Amino acid sequence: MKITAFNGSPRGRNSNTGIMVSEFLQGAEKAGAEAEQVFLSEKKIGNCMGCFKCWISTPGKCVLRDDMADLLEKIITSDVIVMATPLYVDGVTGIFKNFMDRILPLVDPHFEEDENGEYRHVKRYEKYPKIVVVSNCGMPGQQHFQTLKLHFRRMARNFHSEVVAEIYLDSGEMLRSPVLILKPHILKYKKNLSRAGVEFVNNGIISQRTSEKLAKPLIPARVFIREANKHWDRELAKLNIPAPEHK
Ligand SMILES: Cc1cc2nc3c(=O)[nH]c(=O)nc-3n(C[C@H](O)[C@H](O)[C@H](O)COP(=O)(O)O)c2cc1C
Repeated sequence: MKITAFNGSPRGRNSNTGIMVSEFLQGAEKAGAEAEQVFLSEKKIGNCMGCFKCWISTPGKCVLRDDMADLLEKIITSDVIVMATPLYVDGVTGIFKNFMDRILPLVDPHFEEDENGEYRHVKRYEKYPKIVVVSNCGMPGQQHFQTLKLHFRRMARNFHSEVVAEIYLDSGEMLRSPVLILKPHILKYKKNLSRAGVEFVNNGIISQRTSEKLAKPLIPARVFIREANKHWDRELAKLNIPAPEHK
């Protein structure tokens, strides 16, 4: 199984998203997969210009000369792609959205009706990779991923694929925290990410047990909020900036 992960965090190799993907891929490799993480922040990806030339004058190819041609090749030759992005304004990052827009050449412009009576574009390729979604966000609470989940589901169906596994970590900034007391929690979470990779390669899914563990924040939300607010107060105090009233 060939798995390619696309990480859309502007923090690239220093991102929480990167930690999540690395651990997941490590598990996947242990179970025999061939895996790669691509950091989109290191790639040149221009904005889609909406010219539709990838559908007419150069079918299947974008006219922009940048790294996207290589990335399209990586997508279409993978069995599974990991769409990995931190949550930005309830959605994907700008980097990741550019990347998503630029996958348009992978489908043919003609319309078709699917088995549910919904419309989409016709396939250009025989086989499309399955999708795993990995994300983390700053706020506590899994409900923050509502719109992101739906976006990826809709995007997957439009591209003749499906979301086969999802990992969402809220209060995600703790993953890179140097605070000693968090260390065992971070280690445990990483182990579960790696286990998810093994399970995914062996069974094509992440077990419910592991999924539930991966959806739990490292520490309870109330404790996280209290400590995070203290952290912001300290950071502002260093610069003599008064903090607003908060609980
Ligand atoms: C511009 C911007 C928008 C953000 N929007 C959200 C948001 O809507 N909800 C949320 O919970 N966190 C939000 N965050 C917080 C990030 O999701 C969080 O910092 C995350 O841990 C970053 O992950 P990374 O290290 O993988 O980039 C936002 C951060 C930035 C910089």
